[in-house]
Amino acid sequence: MEDTYSNVCVTGSGNGIGRSIAIALNNEGYNVACADKDSKSLDETLDLMPKEKPKKIKIKMDVSQVKDIDKMIEKTVKHFGTLDIMVNNAGVTKSLGLFELDETHWKWMNDVNAKGTFFCLQKAAKQMIAQGNGGRIINMSSVGAKGFVDVSNTIYAATKGSILSMTKTASQELGKYNINVNSICPSPTYTDIVKKLVAKRAKEQNKTEKEIMDYYMRDVPLGRFNDPDDIASMVIFLSSSGARNITGQSFNVDGGLIPS
Ligand SMILES: NC(=O)c1ccc[n+]([C@@H]2O[C@H](COP(=O)([O-])OP(=O)(O)OC[C@H]3O[C@@H](n4cnc5c(N)ncnc54)[C@H](O)[C@@H]3O)[C@@H](O)[C@H]2O)c1
Repeated sequence: MEDTYSNVCVTGSGNGIGRSIAIALNNEGYNVACADKDSKSLDETLDLMPKEKPKKIKIKMDVSQVKDIDKMIEKTVKHFGTLDIMVNNAGVTKSLGLFELDETHWKWMNDVNAKGTFFCLQKAAKQMIAQGNGGRIINMSSVGAKGFVDVSNTIYAATKGSILSMTKTASQELGKYNINVNSICPSPTYTDIVKKLVAKRAKEQNKTEKEIMDYYMRDVPLGRFNDPDDIASMVIFLSSSGARNITGQSFNVDGGLIPS
């Protein structure tokens, strides 16, 4: 099959889902640029990648700063020659009720989740078009964008909804360049974001963390939290030549939580 790619950049790869994605891609043979605002956690991600695997580089950057995104792409291309696959994974949230949310929360979550994803998508697509060999863009949304009742907060859900919308429209504009744009919607995945959320809700509701986690799983047919590797597996597929004719879609990795 055609459409085989080598060089990937993953944002938010210092921890959690992004780290699993970066390691899984490297294990599959991709050169991986690991981007995150947390330099120390990036070092840990790189240490977890086997030495004999293909190249990996570390890029300390903030996805909410467009100039950082430009530098991230420049550095990836300088080291690997091209940028073929862009995984827009960095995201932030916090457990907050509707009336606790204010403009600072709006700016914080929109700057990272919506603005960061958009400009990484736009700048990566520009680079891919210049290379003339197509490419893949994979955006991290959430089941929170599709009505998951226990989502961390309403603004977060809206930022993840905007990722679904930009995925659809960008896929329509970029199809003629053979650039596929898709998004992934994970249900709760046991990473730092979720650990903090579970701990806060357990305290507020005077319950144990296990009780909160069991409650999240009450409507999940397969009944289990995601492991970050469950999301990495979907990224591996969407990066592969087998996914060459899939674009503009969102894929739930959620144990059957959202039946769509
Ligand atoms: N964990 C879940 O249950 C879950 C569910 C659905 C969607 N998601 C989404 O998956 C993605 C990863 O989540 P996670 O659970 O691994 O989170 P995490 O907090 O464990 O890791 C997020 C990483 O992103 C980095 N980051 C944050 N802001 C950044 C910025 N401005 N610039 C660069 N890097 C930045 C952090 O330093 C961290 O390394 C997020 O987009 C999140 O919204 C997570």
